[in-house]
Amino acid sequence: MNKPINSPFRYAGGKFYARNLILRHITPHSYYVEPFAGGGSIFFAKQKVVNNWLNDIDEAIINTYLIIRDQPEELISYLDGEQATKERHSYYKNEFHPQNQLEAAARWFYLNRTSYSGIMKQQNCYWGYGDKYSMRPENWPRNIRRTSEKLQDVKITNLDFEQVIETVPDNTFLFIDPPYFNADQDKFYTHSFSKDDHYRLCKILKKHHNRIYFLLTYDNTTEVRDLYEWAIEMHDKEWNYTISRTDDQKKGQKKGDNFKGARYKGKEVFILNYDSTANFFDQPKQLVIGF
Ligand SMILES: C[S@@+](CC[C@H](N)C(=O)[O-])C[C@H]1O[C@@H](n2cnc3c(N)ncnc32)[C@H](O)[C@@H]1O
Repeated sequence: MNKPINSPFRYAGGKFYARNLILRHITPHSYYVEPFAGGGSIFFAKQKVVNNWLNDIDEAIINTYLIIRDQPEELISYLDGEQATKERHSYYKNEFHPQNQLEAAARWFYLNRTSYSGIMKQQNCYWGYGDKYSMRPENWPRNIRRTSEKLQDVKITNLDFEQVIETVPDNTFLFIDPPYFNADQDKFYTHSFSKDDHYRLCKILKKHHNRIYFLLTYDNTTEVRDLYEWAIEMHDKEWNYTISRTDDQKKGQKKGDNFKGARYKGKEVFILNYDSTANFFDQPKQLVIGF
């Protein structure tokens, strides 16, 4: 129930590939909060603590988390017999109109597992499943059950980040992963995040920085560094990763081929309001988890 697992979702901007780097900088805590949870890759990769809170402004992902937490068997039954095909993807995307929260979660889960990079915004949600590299439908029940176990007793809300940060108890640890400062992220996320929202985030973190601990990840730009010059630590971080896929997004390649993985480099700044050398978690060896 408390072991590190992978996020149940594929998620644009997810921190799956940076999870070990991030976990190394987290300070010990007993209350853990993600105000911008998305796919929650850090929450799922770490050990749960006494209190855990996941929040996101996207009501569809939060509804899916709630159904996975509270009605995993109903969701599994609903998806039973599903196949990952372009036709079913198109059906769920364009024709299916959920009549209740369970159906909405089933639609979201199906599209997330079968869309290119898990991008769920209607205009940019394209078929992107490959038998070799994607989680096959017969493995979805296992994924849903283990996620549900980990989500037991976790607080899950659909609020703006400010309402979360304002109300967390003293000494809470927050992993903060907002949309990038200098990138058009509107194509990924259902709610846009303006420059004013970035300044609002900075202001509220500054207001509470003496009573909470936070690790903030951002694109590594001058504006971000200037905005957070008051923080205690700033680390430039880079990591390499490879994505193998057999989707339709790469032009000139035949579906079903064994494409070579594309190489990418993640580049961000980690901003902390505490001294991370003071009390590291042990090197989290158990965190290397296969797909
Ligand atoms: C970079 S993603 C988080 C990725 C996540 N750490 C992961 O590993 O999958 C940013 C998230 O912030 C959410 N978001 C955008 N505006 C928000 C707001 N005002 N309050 C709370 N969440 C917001 C988006 O819906 C998106 O899921």
